Amino acid sequence: MTAVDLRTRIAGLNMPNPTMLASGILGTTADILREVANAGAGAVVTKSVGLKPREGYPNPTVIQVECGFLNAVGLPNPGIHKFMEEIRSLNDLRVPLIVSVFGFSPEEYAETARLAVEAGASAVELNLSCPHVKGTGAEIGQDLEAVRLIVRAVKDQVDRPVFVKLTPNTSHIPDLAEAAASAGADAITAINTVRAMAIDVETFRPILANKFGGLSGAAIKPIAVRCVYEIYEVVNLPIIGCGGIRGWRDAVEFMLAGACAVQIGSAIALEGLSIFKRICDGISSFLERKGFRSVNEIVGLAHKK
Ligand SMILES: Cc1cc2nc3c(=O)[nH]c(=O)nc-3n(C[C@H](O)[C@H](O)[C@H](O)COP(=O)(O)O)c2cc1C
Repeated sequence: MTAVDLRTRIAGLNMPNPTMLASGILGTTADILREVANAGAGAVVTKSVGLKPREGYPNPTVIQVECGFLNAVGLPNPGIHKFMEEIRSLNDLRVPLIVSVFGFSPEEYAETARLAVEAGASAVELNLSCPHVKGTGAEIGQDLEAVRLIVRAVKDQVDRPVFVKLTPNTSHIPDLAEAAASAGADAITAINTVRAMAIDVETFRPILANKFGGLSGAAIKPIAVRCVYEIYEVVNLPIIGCGGIRGWRDAVEFMLAGACAVQIGSAIALEGLSIFKRICDGISSFLERKGFRSVNEIVGLAHKK
């Protein structure tokens, strides 16, 4: 029995611990989401879902690079109407279920979010940050007015917490966080992948079928920590850190920067689902060693003068 308290509360959602499954990693069916929750995640986020079904891009869509992954999957999904069945069948999940949504207009974001909540989502996370699909994600997520319009449209339609997932592909991420906050966002998730590419020197061709993709994994952790730190200085909202987290030290670093929870994506591909329990055990031992009683006590400590 551990002496420290890992329980975390984000925008009214109660989590047994501060770890979450990141969007797009395993979150495509109810069975897999349940398995991730059973493995110890404090909350789960689904793959991003839109109003209509989408096929995504041809292969190759995901490749491993020196210190991470490069992906351009193209937001394949069955559409929210079909996905509502998966959401409904998770009504016994013991941790919050966050449905990630995207759209090609504020109305599409809002309608998709409304249906996700109607089916039982505990919260929605707006994907304003996918770096490789035209007309959605980061393309509109870099535009302050578009961020405001989308967040407002969604807030008008749903009565559950709205998380806004930001892109690092912008010159000043705190402005995006402020825009989301001013429109009523309940929490900020930072960050999505960093726009990137790889070229095959034998064939002289870009490797991903889409040419450009998003870089994730260890390579982006310092960028993500910087983003969380900067956002913490300007908005008074819970921040969920994401990007390159592989172990408890990474999770603690994000929390010291100002995150009250962390999402884990790429590392699951390398280490499997036991990573959630391992990170939680590591955070517990760290807190005990440092004399803290609750994980909430370390959030933002790197900002203290
Ligand atoms: C294969 C793959 C698919 C992803 N799909 C989504 C998605 O559908 N929606 C989204 O918001 N983020 C998506 N992401 C981004 C992750 O949720 C996360 O923000 C990013 O990978 C950084 O975290 P990590 O370094 O722990 O992987 C995807 C990432 C990968 C690697």
